[in-house]
This record gives sequence, C-alpha cells and structure tokens, in this order.
Amino acid sequence: MTDFSKIKGVLFDLNGIITDSWLYHSKSWRQIAESIGIQWRSDLEEAIKGRDRIDSLNEILRVGGLENKYSEQEKEALADKKNDIYQQMLEIMNPNDILPGIHDFLAELRASNYQMIIASASANAPKEIKKLELENYFPLIVDLKGIKHNKPAPDVYLKAAEMLHLNVDQCIGIDDGVVGVESINAANVVSIGVGDPTVLNMADINFKSTKELTLANIRQNWPK
Ligand code: BG6
Ligand code: MG
Repeated sequence: MTDFSKIKGVLFDLNGIITDSWLYHSKSWRQIAESIGIQWRSDLEEAIKGRDRIDSLNEILRVGGLENKYSEQEKEALADKKNDIYQQMLEIMNPNDILPGIHDFLAELRASNYQMIIASASANAPKEIKKLELENYFPLIVDLKGIKHNKPAPDVYLKAAEMLHLNVDQCIGIDDGVVGVESINAANVVSIGVGDPTVLNMADINFKSTKELTLANIRQNWPK
C-alpha cells in the first residue's frame, strides 16, 4: 500500500459523490423498466449503480427475465429514452445539489495543491459539472469515448491518473458504487468507498457520508 504522503491527485466519481444525480438515474430507469413490464426491485438499485447506460439496461432486462426479447437496436432506443427522461430531470440541477462537505473538501484539496479529475461512468458528466458550476475545480473530466471498458473495469480510473500525469500510487479514487470501488481497486489506486460500509466492504477506506471527506480523516483512516 502506498503512503499517504505520496498522494498528489484525487480521482472523483460524480454521481453519488459530487452530487446525488443517482436518484435521477434510478427514477428514470424505473420508468423504463415499468414501461416494459418489469417490476422495480430495490436490489436492482445496487446492481446498476455506477454501471454505464447499456450495461444498466442489460442488467434490468436480465433481472426481469427479458434478456433475449430485444434486438440491439431496440435496446439502443430504450437506452436513448432513458437518457431523454434523465436529461429532463437534469434541467433543474444547480449548485444546491452539491453533496454536503464536497465544497469544503475541494477547497481544501486545492489549497493543499492536490490535482483533481472527474472519473465518471456517465456521458452526461460535463453537462452536470457545468450545471453545478464546478468547472473551475474540474477542467478535467475523463472522456468516455477513449475508454474501452467502463466500470468495474479499471479503464476510467487508469485514464484519470494518466490525464493528471500521475502514477496510480500517487492517487486516491472516491466512489459510492460497488462497481466503482471495484474499478478503483482494479486500477491499483487506493479506494475510498462512500456509503454503507457493509456494501462497500471492498474499499480500502470507508466513509458513511461525503461530510466525512477531509484530508485529516483520510490520513487517519489510511490502511496500515
Ligand atoms: C453513472 C451512474 O455515474 O453513470 C449510472 O451511477 C449511470 O447509474 C452511468 O448509468 C451512465 O450514465 P449516462 O449519463 O451516461 O447514462
Ligand atoms: Mg456513483
């Protein structure tokens, strides 16, 4: 395990860490699922949290027993419909939607000269960062067009470290989803899981809420 003193960059998931747009994702997927006769179940939430658009749809279809019902084209159309609903919900997003503690944490990181980047599985990340008025902190967002495999593969977090010109042992990754923490771990980056520690038990460091994200807390909880 790398030393805390070596860390120079922080790789941030967006949904569930910077803002709670995860709620919008789950609501819009629920509408799509119910429109094709799949009853929403709470375990679907954890299964798709952090997965990219088409992987989320495939998982919903699998759980609903409809994995062979739709052609690739029909699936694209369902995924597009979900994105339309999601983007409508995004219209009202504003800086009040930044999660508790995040502003202070970003200011603290900047004051201590850490680099930061958004490593999100969402193609809507640039739009959300604009709506949240955080472009100043995040001029860098991993472009998914250059990514072969989305989370839980390591690609998004590896690309994030590379864009900061840092080695993976100089970075920390922060995510709220199981697939996201798995992606950080697969990239060999120290992982912070924010959320239920029994669900995110594969993370190197666990915090229950974004409010706990401070450099002092991270240093204190650094794995031995
Ligand atoms: C992740 C969300 O950040 O982005 C997932 O947690 C979502 O729920 C994924 O499916 C992809 O988002 P988008 O905006 O590209 O459909
Ligand atoms: Mg997330």
